Amino acid sequence: MSRTTSYTVDPVRLDGVLDEPLFKAVASEAALQGIPAFAIGGYVRDRLIGRPCKDIDFVVEGDGMAFAQSVAMRLNAGHVHVFKNFGTAMFMHGDIQVEFVGARKESYSRNSRKPEVEAGTIQDDQERRDFTINALAISLNAGSLGALVDPFGGILDLDRGILRTPLDPDITFSDDPLRMLRAVRFATQLGFVIDPITFDAIKRNAKRLEIISAERIHTELNKILSTPKPSVGFILLRDTGLLAEFFPEFLELAGAEEKFGIGHKDNFYHTLQVLDNVCAKSDDLWLRWGAVLHDIAKPKTKRFDPGHGWTFHGHEDKGARMVPTIFRRLKLPLDEQMRFVQKLVALHLRPISLTKEEVTDSAVRRLLFDAGDDIDALMILCRADITSKNDKKKERYLRNYDLLMEKLKEVEAKDHVRNFQPPITGEDIMRVFDVPPSKFIGDIKTVIKDAILDGVIHNDRTEAWALMLETGRKLGKEPVGVKDE
Ligand code: CTP
Repeated sequence: MSRTTSYTVDPVRLDGVLDEPLFKAVASEAALQGIPAFAIGGYVRDRLIGRPCKDIDFVVEGDGMAFAQSVAMRLNAGHVHVFKNFGTAMFMHGDIQVEFVGARKESYSRNSRKPEVEAGTIQDDQERRDFTINALAISLNAGSLGALVDPFGGILDLDRGILRTPLDPDITFSDDPLRMLRAVRFATQLGFVIDPITFDAIKRNAKRLEIISAERIHTELNKILSTPKPSVGFILLRDTGLLAEFFPEFLELAGAEEKFGIGHKDNFYHTLQVLDNVCAKSDDLWLRWGAVLHDIAKPKTKRFDPGHGWTFHGHEDKGARMVPTIFRRLKLPLDEQMRFVQKLVALHLRPISLTKEEVTDSAVRRLLFDAGDDIDALMILCRADITSKNDKKKERYLRNYDLLMEKLKEVEAKDHVRNFQPPITGEDIMRVFDVPPSKFIGDIKTVIKDAILDGVIHNDRTEAWALMLETGRKLGKEPVGVKDE
């Protein structure tokens, strides 16, 4: 049975919408079936602000799944995926993902995000959405085709750049606490301000984030990290109390202690500056995570040494060891991406140490060997790590890095250690000395690797072969297999 309701349309009209085949098909089907249909949510918001959007959601006051089938038939679209549990249906229209759902009223239970769903009107559906700017709908119904349906002043908020909940924010956030993180994410992505009443409600409800899964939390966090200036989001996360709920280590970076008139920088702001600097140079999410975590162990390694002032010895190693704990808690990937972040954290002090003294080829070779293909990402992080307010100092550091980068290029061209493949394999050693897999083999390989990195021999099979024979003898074994290459 179809339900029809009255709704007030806004004077704003999006006439162009009706030139598009998808919207035409939805409007025709709505007229034929006598079921009110609306485009709603993020698509409407993004269309109004001219932001690209590849998902379009429609709400109908009736059976959304059946309606989707009829629209898909009209458009000769491919398979319609029906999600009975959610009462939604989805199909692709070109590269646009189109989703239909029946309008609903929802009531949430306190301990889960799973709502109990009841059929409702467009207004019920708009009310249960997170922000007024996400509750905007476009009517696809006779008499108001293309008109905006905006019962909560979303268009005004969109114009003024304000994030505000349609209902009392305590209700909206306790219905779905993830929305508090979404508020911060939208504020960062769109450059909007969170309305003070909504902001206070986030502060009051921050603890409710505990019922939200780590995957949903990291998805929002990664969206914040993918913006051009994530520091905006992190400051909001701190001020709302949300950061403390899922990333307390980051909060511990805050504060600049002073002893005997000697202070240290506030590592919370320093890290955010490094993060923004990295974002200006690279879109790589995991390099951005490297910036977030590069100094994460500073609070745990901080000491005051009367001779030297504040020290953070070993924060790079301890920090690298903290990465898996943080990634596991946030359910971030624990494989290649995490190892990359760990490597950046562990190595982030190495390049600077190579600019301080007369750099030897051997030190540069070792850095190239340890960083491998991630050397470019590491150098982006290290350059971003120069946050000195003293322009002269900053320039000098950057110049030193330029010199180091030249040196890295030269050494790599000569020695090819960036993707080091040992010139002698374990099999070679076993064959020549007729030994089974054992420590002896590892020891010889290490001697050869170190000799190459220290420049004692070239990265060359003949030189390495001679060193293998010599080292084997020193370790008490005579070659019995092939002696010459
Ligand atoms: N929505 C909501 N509460 C949530 C998630 C979503 O009210 N926790 C509503 C909002 O109206 C939102 C719409 O569902 O606009 C679609 O959600 P989603 O696709 O997750 O977000 P978008 O607003 O489209 O933004 P983005 O695609 O950038 O995530």
